[in-house]
Amino acid sequence: MDAQDVKSNLVLILDFGSQYTHLITRRIRALNVFSLCVNGTSSLKSIADLNPSVIILSGGPHSVHAPNAPCFAPGFIEYVESNKVHVLGICYGLQLIVQQLGGEVRVGEKQEYGRMEIAVEKAVGLFGNKKIGDRQSVWMSHGDEAVKLPEGFEVVARSRQGAVAAVENPGRRFYGLQYHPEVTHSPEGMETLKYFLFDICGVTAGWKMEDVLDEELKVIKSTVKPDDHVICALSGGVDSTVAATLVHKAIGDRLHCVFVDNGLLRWRERERVMETFEKDLHLPVTCVDASEQFLSKLKGVTEPEKKRKIIGSEFISIFDAFAHDLEQKVGKKPAYLVQGTLYPDVIESCPPPGSGRTHSHTIKSHHNVGGLPKDMKLKLIEPLKLLFKDEVRELGKIMGVPQAFLKRHPFPGPGLAVRVPGDVTLENRLDILRKADEIFIQAIRDAGIYDSIWQAFAVFMPVLTVGVQGDQRTHSYAITLRAVTSQDGMTADWYYFDHKFLADLSTRICNEVPGVNRVLLDITSKPPSTIEWE
Ligand code: XMP
Repeated sequence: MDAQDVKSNLVLILDFGSQYTHLITRRIRALNVFSLCVNGTSSLKSIADLNPSVIILSGGPHSVHAPNAPCFAPGFIEYVESNKVHVLGICYGLQLIVQQLGGEVRVGEKQEYGRMEIAVEKAVGLFGNKKIGDRQSVWMSHGDEAVKLPEGFEVVARSRQGAVAAVENPGRRFYGLQYHPEVTHSPEGMETLKYFLFDICGVTAGWKMEDVLDEELKVIKSTVKPDDHVICALSGGVDSTVAATLVHKAIGDRLHCVFVDNGLLRWRERERVMETFEKDLHLPVTCVDASEQFLSKLKGVTEPEKKRKIIGSEFISIFDAFAHDLEQKVGKKPAYLVQGTLYPDVIESCPPPGSGRTHSHTIKSHHNVGGLPKDMKLKLIEPLKLLFKDEVRELGKIMGVPQAFLKRHPFPGPGLAVRVPGDVTLENRLDILRKADEIFIQAIRDAGIYDSIWQAFAVFMPVLTVGVQGDQRTHSYAITLRAVTSQDGMTADWYYFDHKFLADLSTRICNEVPGVNRVLLDITSKPPSTIEWE
């Protein structure tokens, strides 16, 4: 399917603030249909420019009666009807349709939250492949309910308590589900969504990563002029590596990458990532060893935010120097900067009620390595900005990025500095930490549990405790082991290790890492803790 066909099968999600909105986008993409998410109050022009064939109105925490309750743009109904766009409202989205088309929504007498059973009342439209009386378990989360439907609409499913669960007006192409079909707690929800997209709306599945790759290559080739040079900071993480590999495919060695050793990397990290960049990916990378520069600036600094700021500004000055050196070498200022920004970082979504914001356009600046060099006026190339993390991994796989690299745990920009509370330069804290961390990570790999863990690492404890090693009393440091499971790093739970695994690990670390006589395990979830220690 070419880019034009993909665009003419676009499913657009209008976001009204539900926590599940991104999940709908991902679920639809998993069906090989391209889906984008924009703010629910986006202008009609911005919607029309995307020319969607289907629009899904998401759920949201608001009541349609609340003052300032978000609503689609004026003229939306006329637009979808005249362009024959199918519309599906989910929860709040259903209530908006009902209210805006002349029906009535009231604060429900029986508020329905959690798992519920619904029954099909009319085996048409959304449930055209079901029988009357079919029951299914679904996930509800709403306070309001539709009590009077707009003319021409009918109820096609109800909950046990008699509340409206699904409505439709096929003639006008409006459909609504009071529950969340996209969550796993609605086991038949995806089947309903598939039936809606493919059988009712006639969408064609054809969006796949190979097409994304072709399309991105075309875009980069047509944007970057033949004598333009492009720079990219590689962090050793998945996003910047996949972004650079893609740009390199498009423009070859007019891409210039830099990898900075800031002295805060893991055990042999520099050697490991440089080997992947050079041998597996053939990326043109300059490796700058700036460990002395970073560590001398960090000497005596104990305040966490100050440590972060120093690391950030040192990075920018190195990147600046790299860009200037390049200008000398190629006789031209670099024109573009590649960044591995992902879709979740750029989605404009509905802000939480009461936040006082109209849009929550959040860019996680600390994930964009280093920021822009000061005076270079670089334009950005962000080839991953429409993709989710798992899609980036798939794209990387197609381009030959080694699987082990794509599955690496995230690593913070300030590196081991956030894993050594206080002054990182005292004694040989960083070396002790690197050794203990390497033993921990290797043991996790050997046990075959690396991919079940979101992030695992050792933390240096800057306290001396008493011990007895080889008949000698010791005053040595402690190491804490931290391993968590998570979906996105926003919340996390600690990983339950086997006791024998922990016992062996503790023995190994105390025996093999000079300066350590105690091993602790962090058993805190996030919240109340964070994943990192500083
Ligand atoms: P926290 O510690 O906030 O971490 O629970 C959530 C995720 O973000 C990573 N992290 C950082 N990444 N610069 C980064 O590039 C930072 O300053 C930073 N702080 C935390 C952390 O490793 C985890 O994946």
